[in-house]
Amino acid sequence: PSRWTRVENLEKSLEGKHVMIRGRAQAIRPVGKKMAFLVVRESGFTVQCLVQAQQDLVSVQMVKYAAALSRESVIDVEGLVSVPSEPIKGATQQVEVQVRKLYCVSRALPTLPINLEDAARSEAEIEKALQAGEQLVRVNQDTRLNFRVLDLRTPANQGIFSIQSQVENAFRQFLLSEGFRQIHTPKLIAGSSEGGAAVFRLDYKGHPACLAQSPQLHKQMAICADFGRVFEIGPVFRAEDSFTHRHLCEFTGLDVEMEIKKHYFEVMDIVDRLFVSIFDSLNQNCKKDLEAVAHQYPFEPLKYLRQTLRLTYEEGVQMLKDAGVEIEPFGDLNTEAERKLGQLVLEKYGTEFYILYRYPLAVRPFYTMPCYDNPQYSNSFDVFIRGEEIISGAQRVHNAEMLEKRAESCGIDVKTISTYIDSFRYGAPTHGGFGVGLERVVMLFCGLNNIRKASLYPRDPLRIAP
Ligand code: 4AD
Repeated sequence: PSRWTRVENLEKSLEGKHVMIRGRAQAIRPVGKKMAFLVVRESGFTVQCLVQAQQDLVSVQMVKYAAALSRESVIDVEGLVSVPSEPIKGATQQVEVQVRKLYCVSRALPTLPINLEDAARSEAEIEKALQAGEQLVRVNQDTRLNFRVLDLRTPANQGIFSIQSQVENAFRQFLLSEGFRQIHTPKLIAGSSEGGAAVFRLDYKGHPACLAQSPQLHKQMAICADFGRVFEIGPVFRAEDSFTHRHLCEFTGLDVEMEIKKHYFEVMDIVDRLFVSIFDSLNQNCKKDLEAVAHQYPFEPLKYLRQTLRLTYEEGVQMLKDAGVEIEPFGDLNTEAERKLGQLVLEKYGTEFYILYRYPLAVRPFYTMPCYDNPQYSNSFDVFIRGEEIISGAQRVHNAEMLEKRAESCGIDVKTISTYIDSFRYGAPTHGGFGVGLERVVMLFCGLNNIRKASLYPRDPLRIAP
């Protein structure tokens, strides 16, 4: 009797057993009229299948049918597992399936807009192939994104999204174990939550509204409602006009908000332990995915310490100054300065993951708490991987009058956030939190050069499809 088996589980121990597999015809190679080899792929694992004409078992017509299949068609194969004497090249599994029955579930077009073999090659492999005079087409980013359903089938892309799933899972597991509750805040809101122009405006049944730029206001309101510790995983919308390697118009936000007893360092302690646990879990549970990504896009494993390095903004600025980079006092670090600081930190402390805290108040959003000892600074922090920001966080202003003043001074129309400000009039605990960009974490952990590679269907100023 046959039974369904996953390609990844086809091993030598199954020799002589009948199996059924479902996958894609990744490669089809006829050998004369009586034999054809198929490579069948399922979730990144591949197995060689032999269709050979044999009296009463396999007809010559079936060999012809197999040879005429188009690449990427979805097929069902029933057959016998055998162990060839020679090692198999060009398949992940070291057994062969002697095909008895073959069904085509869904036929792919005979020519595809992307050649998947080419799309899966690393830059070094492309160079080598070109030098050897091979005909191949470099698949550019736009073509990949236009035909994302095909592009996503490459081993590196399969790896990237398994890694993304694991980051989210590790984030949730850690926070649940620390007594946080998962919440969902509305994405249709009355006003901008971060300030600034980068907001998608829309008509909400005759009232002006926005797509939420972050769960900021509502996650804080959950703290006012006695939720104590909350987190959210959800979409964040930014009408950015930035054409950079790290900005999207829609991304997945991992947000945290919590009561603090004494100091906003309590929030940084959570960041520290949370991210060490996320990185550890990726290194432990995603070895194959990381290898698949590194095969196409080579990168070095992330260097991080068991206890995350913390530097003040001023210390960071001093390190940059010492290296000859001038920074505006009380200004923000630009992308280049952040990168440079990343290098300096790596050289001095041996880590590519660190926290920079006590930022100038002027460069932080209105809800950020000023430092008690010097209100030109704030109780806030950013967190960096390989010199690029993945998190921003802070203690929040929990006094309604002060909040109102801060919002006004930042040019925010206070009427649009009056219910938020009112939430602090009924008594509010001291609290803080942070927001993480999921795509940035995956991009930077894997050393990818563009955030679009870490977004399933990226949305940028020029792209709303597929
Ligand atoms: O720095 P941001 O804008 O901070 C907030 O939204 C605050 N409400 C967070 C808080 O709790 N204080 O965004 C947080 C993170 C950034 O560090 C970055 O990783 C990511 O979200 N991010 C983006 N990712 C992709 N595309 C964009 N346009 C992004 N803007 C921010």
